[in-house]
Amino acid sequence: MNRIVPRVLFGLLVAAAVLATAVVGYLAVRVLGGDTVTSRDGGSFGEAAIGGPFNLVDGDGQPRTPADYRGKLMLIYFGFAFCPDVCPTELQKMGAAMDMLGDKGKDVTPIFITVDPERDTPAEIKAYVANFHPRMVGLTGTLEQTTAAAKAWRVYFKKVQDPAASQYTMDHSSIVYLMDRQGKFITHFSARASAEDMAKTIGKFL
Ligand code: NI
Repeated sequence: MNRIVPRVLFGLLVAAAVLATAVVGYLAVRVLGGDTVTSRDGGSFGEAAIGGPFNLVDGDGQPRTPADYRGKLMLIYFGFAFCPDVCPTELQKMGAAMDMLGDKGKDVTPIFITVDPERDTPAEIKAYVANFHPRMVGLTGTLEQTTAAAKAWRVYFKKVQDPAASQYTMDHSSIVYLMDRQGKFITHFSARASAEDMAKTIGKFL
């Protein structure tokens, strides 16, 4: 018996150490590991650094900052008005999602921010966004201002000269961002998301 007790104690200590390691490891993964945390609302929170301040002008040449859109959700997309297909597709989805939300959609401001301010003047962008939704806001600015905004949302863009055409085009990432009433990032939609997907997710935050 006297020889067995220390062995049992040693066994228990080893078991406790293994358990403690597992618990610490699990906590480390929970706290440090994932960049996405599921909220009570079931939405996907993470990438918290997406978004930020911007200084742009709207289609009427009025200076605009995120403060102008506080109190409502913002549905934001970056692109350019000359874009042949990607931008129109995404902006149409945004407009359709707004329509699906019906009256509740009034608490969402759909926003298009250009990455091509050289061509997208306030007048140009105002006429362009009107194609997609009556309440869609088009924002432009100086190249510095639109570049800073794109950077805040981690949007990639690059001017590309097409040797076959006199016009240049813009390579750009195509993601729709949903921001909360304080201007903080909620989630994003990739090209795979349908207008129905967008409306459903946005509806959870209204
Ligand atoms: Ni585009």
